This record gives sequence, structure tokens and C-alpha cells, in this order.
Amino acid sequence: MQSRNEKTQTVLIAGGAGFVGSHLCDAHLARGDKVICVDSYITGSQNNVRPLLNHPNFLLVESDIRDLTKFDEPLDKIYNLACAASPPQYQADPVHTMMTCVAGTGNLLQLAERHQANFLQASTSEVYGDPVEHPQREDYRGNVNCTGPRACYDEGKRAAEALCFDMVRAARVSARVARIFNTYGPRMLPNDGRIISNLLVQAISGDPLTIYGSGEQTRSFCFVSDLVAGLMALMDVDPNPGMPVNLGNPGEFTIKELAVMIESLFPTTPGVVYRPLPQDDPQRRRPDISRAQELLNWRPQIPLSEGLQRTAAWFEATLSDSKEFGSRRTKAQDRAAALAVER
Ligand SMILES: NC(=O)c1ccc[n+]([C@@H]2O[C@H](COP(=O)([O-])OP(=O)(O)OC[C@H]3O[C@@H](n4cnc5c(N)ncnc54)[C@H](O)[C@@H]3O)[C@@H](O)[C@H]2O)c1
Repeated sequence: MQSRNEKTQTVLIAGGAGFVGSHLCDAHLARGDKVICVDSYITGSQNNVRPLLNHPNFLLVESDIRDLTKFDEPLDKIYNLACAASPPQYQADPVHTMMTCVAGTGNLLQLAERHQANFLQASTSEVYGDPVEHPQREDYRGNVNCTGPRACYDEGKRAAEALCFDMVRAARVSARVARIFNTYGPRMLPNDGRIISNLLVQAISGDPLTIYGSGEQTRSFCFVSDLVAGLMALMDVDPNPGMPVNLGNPGEFTIKELAVMIESLFPTTPGVVYRPLPQDDPQRRRPDISRAQELLNWRPQIPLSEGLQRTAAWFEATLSDSKEFGSRRTKAQDRAAALAVER
């Protein structure tokens, strides 16, 4: 909580109605800040912030960051989390994804400059592409296919990082860049193609677990509360590191190991089915978090076994509460269907 003599900070969170953004809204409100949540709901939902709608320090604004609404009141901090994050969602309308990353980030950086607000860009481990160095340190420049189906996101996020560091070099904005590795937890969409939500929803529904490829590919999974603590620490650290910072859990698991952990939570799961690996899917992912440890004194606290239990409990409660939640399509999925008809 904020002490009485600290000034209330006004924090704008673009993408605040999404999975990570809604937890960040919760954390800033709990600290006593005023939160302006900006979202177009293309992949997020008002449901994620519904409990906050009557909070006196919370304001929800529907706006697309590619064509951002004007904000007159003073802003102290701006987070840019606005971007579809899972491959099926960001590939649904790749031009929208790229323009969100480039034009949208540019608009928010200009807003930060006008308000002299600190800025944090949610970048991604996808900037490392299918990495040939392991674990990934921030000085590794990555192995990205710049014309493939994931490029709208990987290259979009790389361009957004470049914009941030141009603004920092020109001393126009104190921009910070978090390279986020796979994050999971309550409020993930059940049908957005992320591995943990996929497997948990299949297990809860009594379906076999789908593994893409051999299952020997690895990922590192960070529980959402750990990520939010890291984002807030990076936003607040003084001086600005002036370089990207990896945020993720360095524990590394094969997808097969993950499936076994989920089977142990749901012992009646009827086994595993294998499907072909999507194009450009990375083989190995593990963050080197020494920079975050040194600069922010941050490291994840929640082990995968505990985070999976908490997430599974949330999915079980939510899926049984609302039958239509399981089949809810996002605007991104509707756009993909409309584009397919136009073609
Ligand atoms: N969750 C992860 O594992 C992960 C990993 C790496 C990076 N990230 C980054 O973190 C951020 C949040 O990810 P998430 O998992 O919460 O995804 P999410 O899809 O749940 O949230 C993104 C939010 O941004 C909104 N949005 C998208 N485009 C917009 C636009 N043009 N204008 C306004 N709002 C827009 C969506 O409606 C949604 O509410 C994203 O920028 C993502 O790239 C997430």
C-alpha cells in the first residue's frame, strides 16, 4: 500500500483488459494508484476487469492504440501491453498486429513524452525467434524469420523495441523494455492456443492432451503474479537501465514433462495425441534472468507445480460457472473469419 505522504500516481495500462494487463491493474490499484485501463477488447474482455469497474480509482477507456484517444489528465506511468499474444490470435489479422506494435507503440511513446511519464514496453522472448544460443541473454540478437507467419509479432515487437530505444537515446522518454517469456495463470483464454491453457482445458474436459511435434521442445513458464512484480520493479527502477530486461522463470520443461504434470492433476486424462509442429515454432526457450536479478533484485517465487494447481482451479471454477465462456470467440478470431470470407 502507498504511504500517506506519497503522491497518488496515475498509471495508464494499454492492454489492461487482457490476461497480464488485468493483473497489473489489480496490483497498481492495491498499491493505491489511479489506473486508466485502455483496451480495444480485440483479445481481452471487460470480464477481466469487471470487479474493478466500481473502484473509485479505476477508469476503463475503449480505444485502439493505433488511433489513440486523447488524454488530458497528467499521467505518471504508461505501460504498453496492448497486443495479441498467442500465435492464433496475433496471426488472425497480422497487419493489425504489426500496426499495433509499430503505430500503437509510437502513439503511446508520444503520449509518454507529452506527459513526461515513465514508459514500459511489454516485449517478448519471441524477439529471439528460434534461438541458437541457450539460455537466452539480452545481448543475443536472435534467429527470427522476418517474412514468416510469426513475423507480424516477432518483427513488430522488435520494431517497437527499436522505437523505445530511439526515444531513450534522444532523451525524449524514459522507456523500459521487458522481454517477457511464457506466462500463465488465471484469466488466460481457454481457447487461445497457449500450451498451458490448451492442456488444462483438455484435461478438465476429459479429452486427450494435444502435443505439437515430439514434445521434446522446451519452454519456461512464469506465473502471472511473478511477472507483474517484475514489470512494476522495472517500471520503478531508477536510473532507467536503458537496455532490455528478460522477465521469465528460468525453470525449463519439455512439453512432455508439462503434460505429465497436468496428467497428475487430472489422473483420468485419457493420454496424449501428437500433431505436427507449427511453422517456426522454437525448439528451446529459457531466459537468463541475471540482469533482472542484478538490476531489480527480482526472481520468480511460484514453482510450476503450484502455479499449475492455481490455474487449474481457476479454469475449473470458470468453465463450470459459464458454459459459454469455453466457446467464447475473441474479436481477433471474428476478424480472421471475416478476412477469410473476403479472400
Ligand atoms: N502472456 C505471455 O506469455 C506473454 C509473453 C510474452 C509477451 N507478452 C506480451 O504481454 C502483453 C500482454 O499479453 P497477454 O498475454 O496479456 O495478452 P492478451 O491478448 O490477453 O492481452 C492483450 C490486450 O491488448 C489488447 N489489445 C490488442 N491490440 C490492441 C490495440 N491495437 N489497441 C488496444 N488494445 C489492444 C487486447 O484486447 C488485450 O486485452 C502483450 O503485449 C504480449 O505481447 C505476453
